[in-house]
Amino acid sequence: MDKNSLIKEIIRLKQEKNAVILAHYYQDEEIQDIADFIGDSLELSKKAQQTNASIILFAGVHFMAETAKILNPDKKVIIPDFNAGCSLADGCDPADFKIFKAKHPGHIVVTYINCSAEIKAMSDLVCTSSNAKKIIASIPADKEIIFAPDKNLGHYLQKETKRKLVLWDGSCVVHEAFSLEKLIDLYKKNPTAKIAAHPESESHILKIAHYIGSTSGIINFIKTDPAAVFIVATEAGILHELSKAAPEKTLIPAPSTEDNTCACSECAFMKINTLEKLYWCLKYESPEIIVDEQLRIKALKPIKRMLELS
Ligand code: 13P
Ligand code: SF4
Repeated sequence: MDKNSLIKEIIRLKQEKNAVILAHYYQDEEIQDIADFIGDSLELSKKAQQTNASIILFAGVHFMAETAKILNPDKKVIIPDFNAGCSLADGCDPADFKIFKAKHPGHIVVTYINCSAEIKAMSDLVCTSSNAKKIIASIPADKEIIFAPDKNLGHYLQKETKRKLVLWDGSCVVHEAFSLEKLIDLYKKNPTAKIAAHPESESHILKIAHYIGSTSGIINFIKTDPAAVFIVATEAGILHELSKAAPEKTLIPAPSTEDNTCACSECAFMKINTLEKLYWCLKYESPEIIVDEQLRIKALKPIKRMLELS
């Protein structure tokens, strides 16, 4: 089927099945364009909570679709490709995390939403990059805190909130690949540019950033800041929405250490989804996200607390 026919069929199936398509900013342009809603992790969780649709097609990675299912046990949640993982979620094994937690008794466990339902079920609070500071600040000062699985976001939160966090040793392969040396060279060539970075980036990148925030935060910053040129240190998929939201601005993707063809950073997990997979997924309502009910109830608690606080 050609691209136009695929798009027509997806729209037809969506109406026929009362489905909603939620997509993250890191998805391919054509997926973002066909989605009913695009957003950052927090916004997508909120949309998943509010929808009246019978089917949620989540164009993103597994932990995002799983979060939607935890919030919507009575809805069918489907994902274009079950292999859409995340280095943060995949690098935090529940058995290892249980041992880690036991080594730090009495600590409040805050986990970044980029983790599995099993890890969420072992947490007191979940957070996303857009509400993490607020979530940490909500914890009484006399309490000790474990933060997992992103050590880079954890280091940033330690600095911002002045709280000591016991950190799990995990990271995002995409945001960890930004090259400080190349970024400085690029900045020297564009001295009027402002650098906007996602907090999953390493601290040496964040140190020179003019703005640090979630994907939606970055879009909002670039849209409203008077500067004309921006260097964007997050996954390249965001450039599509940015070019629509701020068409008059010059956007330069931050260079990664790898010499890849697009000279920018792409998340291979996010890019595993294609328009064709979206079509098959909607047609056969598969692969479907299934979460054991006992596990779901445990994982729901810290997500609900997060949504109440944000
Ligand atoms: P946001 O919540 O900022 O969209 O981040 C999601 C993510 O996976 C970043 O790599
Ligand atoms: Fe996970 Fe990083 Fe991809 Fe986001 S960009 S989904 S954190 S691997």
